[in-house]
Amino acid sequence: MLTLALSKGRILDDTAGLLQRCGILIDTALADSRKLILPTGDPDLRLLIVRATDVPTYVQHGAADLGIAGKDVMLEHGGDGLYQPVDLNIGRCRMCVAAPVGFDYGNAVRRGARLRVATKYVNVASRHFARKGVHIDLIKLYGSMELAPLVGLADAIVDVVSTGSTLKANNLVEVEDIMPISARLIVNQAALKMRQAMLAPLIAALEKAAATTS
Ligand code: ATP
Ligand code: PRP
Repeated sequence: MLTLALSKGRILDDTAGLLQRCGILIDTALADSRKLILPTGDPDLRLLIVRATDVPTYVQHGAADLGIAGKDVMLEHGGDGLYQPVDLNIGRCRMCVAAPVGFDYGNAVRRGARLRVATKYVNVASRHFARKGVHIDLIKLYGSMELAPLVGLADAIVDVVSTGSTLKANNLVEVEDIMPISARLIVNQAALKMRQAMLAPLIAALEKAAATTS
């Protein structure tokens, strides 16, 4: 039996579509239930439904053989003990720096101002600003980062953006693109060696399905 850890929340529908294209069927009634371990049409594959940020932890410790996690999550986790063979082409968005409309971010950076940056992506943000030589005070948040500059908690945020509507609704603009983000297949390195015969066909099927995702 193989165990695949999936993120609940916004990428679950796209993930279910991807699995369906690999011939793996999920009972939608069960997926909508409060159950955290779901069977699939394949008796040798079960799914764990966990928080996005917990997916790499389950796979790293071998509680799941493989998982699907955003690149944003993997950058924060670090990816120790994990193999990341496939870009799954779902959950596409971009990591960026955003600030209030009217805040002259470029000027603040040029004059070497110390910036207060709110984010849940503290590793990504630290690396990004260190590379630019910009000094920052990091403020760790767990969600709704867009609020921080509106109430004086931060000068700027680092967050993922897709349509841009959340920034727009909160009078913020993207001032710097950091990197593109999408969901990755992650595999426990030990499982890949020990359970190669079971894992290889599933990884190949997911790779093929991802290649045909628009
Ligand atoms: P947690 O529940 O652990 O706090 P989360 O709130 O980041 O995690 P989701 O919002 O469901 O969880 O996001 C899951 C993944 O979807 C993220 O890791 C990211 O890769 C991707 N994602 C986040 N926001 C968007 C977006 N606006 N458009 C497309 N993909 C996104
Ligand atoms: C994500 C992200 C932004 C929003 C961007 O939030 O943190 O707030 O999506 O998407 P958009 O550009 O299409 O508006 P999410 O809904 O996952 O909530 P959270 O980060 O507060 O958990």
